[in-house]
Amino acid sequence: MNVRHFLNLSDLSADEVRELLARGAALGRMYRDGERHASRPGRVLAMIFEKASTRTRISFEAGMAHLGGHAIFLSPRDTQLGRGEPIEDTARVVSSMADAVMIRANEHATVERFAAVATVPVINALTDRSHPCQLLADLQTFTELRGDIAGRTVAWIGDGNNMCHTWIEAAALLGFNLRIATPPDYAPEAEVVRAGGDWTRVFTDPEVAVAGAELVTTDVWASMGQEAEQETRLDAFTGFQVDAGLMTKAAPNALFMHCLPAHRGEEVAAEVLDGPQSVVWREAENRLHVQKALLEHLIG
Ligand code: CP
Ligand code: NVA
Repeated sequence: MNVRHFLNLSDLSADEVRELLARGAALGRMYRDGERHASRPGRVLAMIFEKASTRTRISFEAGMAHLGGHAIFLSPRDTQLGRGEPIEDTARVVSSMADAVMIRANEHATVERFAAVATVPVINALTDRSHPCQLLADLQTFTELRGDIAGRTVAWIGDGNNMCHTWIEAAALLGFNLRIATPPDYAPEAEVVRAGGDWTRVFTDPEVAVAGAELVTTDVWASMGQEAEQETRLDAFTGFQVDAGLMTKAAPNALFMHCLPAHRGEEVAAEVLDGPQSVVWREAENRLHVQKALLEHLIG
């Protein structure tokens, strides 16, 4: 079946990613000028959320409205998915009525199973393994503010989680240096690091990882589904907070990013999140613009 899915960042070529970033930036400028571009009238995006969301839901829903289409919010609680209808049966039915499907799933295998039988494009809107839509927004934000990311240096501080994995994928795809610092027991999956090749290096000292980085980024220490580990993780991540002191070890004028939601005083100090180097609000808004570019790309 010849359908383009977006389950991993590497489902796009590096050139396609660069085209999406440019298109996202253009759509952002049009949006701020009050222009709308209804390029996909009447098209429908089905959105399945197994986990909570603010940014992802609003950006996809508003994005489809801007493009002249419509988005349908579906949760397992209110659909037959929650009563055990197989994911493959759901995929066949949704494919027959929508032009694309966006899924936020607990397990990465769920989006893979859905995509295996879907006859329309499937978009990964976060799984336990990755979050490629967020990376598109992060890359657009860096590119708008600092130019092409190729050859530059990015530091990831904190948990080796779904966001960290997707940064590893991005570094290999676009050719930039990624320096990761995590506590030893919270490193990214070895297989993902291996696939990232020489672009990624993993450390356990945040100061070593941020040295010379033009972008410092982090994420919550306990992701959705890990709430029971919150206390253990608070202990394990002591010393991994991105604070003003750590930012001084990065390149002068380094940017700070966080996919949000953030916990001030845990993975990031308020002085950094709300400080002059932080670009988190622009990063969040860019979800809207770059995902519109993605929807245009996937929905013909
Ligand atoms: N960053 C992100 O995906 O946010 P939401 O969980 O609010 O969608
Ligand atoms: N790592 C976080 C990202 C939230 C957007 C989580 O999976 O909960």
